This record gives sequence, C-alpha cells and structure tokens, in this order.
Amino acid sequence: MQLRWAHGPQVYVPAATYSTIAPACFTIDIMSRMPFITFEGSEGCGKSTQVKRLAACLERVGIPFLVTREPGGTPVGESIRELLQFAPHNAGMTSETELLLFEASRSQLVREMIKPALERGVCVIADRFFDSTTVYQGAARRLDREIVERLNAFAVGDCVPDITFVLDVDAETARSRMQQPRRADRMEQQPSEFYEQVREAYRDLVRHEPDRITLIDGSREADEIENDIWKTLCSRFPNLTTDD
Ligand SMILES: Nc1ncnc2c1ncn2[C@@H]1O[C@H](COP(=O)(O)OP(=O)(O)OP(=O)(O)O)[C@@H](O)[C@H]1O
Ligand SMILES: [Mg+2]
Repeated sequence: MQLRWAHGPQVYVPAATYSTIAPACFTIDIMSRMPFITFEGSEGCGKSTQVKRLAACLERVGIPFLVTREPGGTPVGESIRELLQFAPHNAGMTSETELLLFEASRSQLVREMIKPALERGVCVIADRFFDSTTVYQGAARRLDREIVERLNAFAVGDCVPDITFVLDVDAETARSRMQQPRRADRMEQQPSEFYEQVREAYRDLVRHEPDRITLIDGSREADEIENDIWKTLCSRFPNLTTDD
C-alpha cells in the first residue's frame, strides 16, 4: 500500500486523496459522501491492527481515505499526545487537565484534518475519537458526565462518526497482546480495575447508541474481525463498493 506521511506517524494520505475529487459540503447526505469511521476499545484490543487492515481494504477498492489517531493527528495534536502519554513531568497531571488536553487535540484534528477530508469526498478512519473521552475521563476517571459530553460536543461540532467499532477483549487477552516491547503510556500503568471499568463503559456505550456503535468480539483471529468489519461497512455504506 502506498501511503504518504502527514502530521505524525499514523496519519496516512494516499496519493489518490489529492486527485480529481470535487469539493463537497460536509453536511451533504451520508449516502453521497464517504463515511467517518472510528475504532475504540481498551489498550491492546487490536484497534491499530484493524485500522491498518481497513485502510488496505479501501486501498484495494480504490476509495480515497485518511487514517488518523487520537490524541494527535496534527502537529499541535502530536505535541499534546507526547505531553499526555510520555512526558516525564506528566505524573502530576490532574484529570481535568487531561480532559482539556484531549479536547484541545480533538478540536484541532476535526477542523484541520477530518472535516476537510470528508468535504473532499475522502473516507476518514480514526484510531480513537470522542468515545474514548466519554469512557476514560467520564466513566473511569469519574469526571462529571455532563461536562465531558458538553466538551466533546464543543470539540467536534457536527463532526460525529457515522459508525464506530468497539473491539471488546478481556483483560487477560489484552495483557497477553501487550507483551511485545512497546512504550507503555500512562493509561497502561493503571490498575486492572481501571481496565474493567473502561471495558464496561464501552459496552454501556454500545447499549446506549446501538445505531452508531457496533460491538466486535476482538478475541477472534484478526482476519475474521477484518471480514466482519468490512461486511458491516459494505452493507451500511453501499458507496464503498460502487463507483458513484
Ligand atoms: N485479533 C488478534 N489476535 C491476536 N493478536 C492480535 C489481534 N489483533 C491485534 N493483535 C496483536 O496485539 C497487539 C496489540 O494490537 P494493536 O496495537 O492493534 O492494539 P491497540 O488496540 O491499537 O492498542 P493500543 O490501545 O495500545 O494502541 C499487537 O501485537 C497486535 O499484533
Ligand atoms: Mg493502537
């Protein structure tokens, strides 16, 4: 797959993105624009794996796409990501500060990357988006739910995902997948009850928004999960497989 780097290590813009796509308005009907797809779930559940696989599927069928991630995805967002996840002085960061930094990264990403891409007729795939904040800062860190929702809404405006896949795996599976050498971030250093709270909060979100959010059994083989996701997308968004 031919991918061009833009703003950080996981933002890929295929060459086709800048071809002959006519400008379109974000508010046009979802049937006539490409979908905004997000992947959610606990650490190590397989989000980035499935994001890459979906990108490969889109590449195969010739659909222009943008892959991005949160926090990050823009120069401003990538600096915020480093501060949130790895900065040596972040140990004393309050939950409120953490919430505002996530929202700052998100509002930049929406305006600088996601909306312009959707308006150009590009399909957008995001590795985490605002559901992560609802779950981590709202449910797990127990910040005021209403404030979290209002800040999410302020950050994204009308840029709400068309479909969200929550990859669900138990703590043991996630832990075993995280054995490979990796740069453990602050969330991964939380106790196991935190993992369970996050998992349950995601399952709760699926129950509350079944039209947008699809729960995926992430414990299966990666190929099986990929097929499941692709089938769901093709039935929900026929323009992914037709030429119009
Ligand atoms: N379905 C699967 N079966 C077995 N292993 C998998 C599967 N999906 C992903 N993995 C492996 O598990 C590890 C974590 O996967 P991945 O990085 O995709 O998770 P993630 O949800 O993006 O994690 P993080 O939240 O930390 O970014 C990787 O080594 C990946 O190869
Ligand atoms: Mg990942």
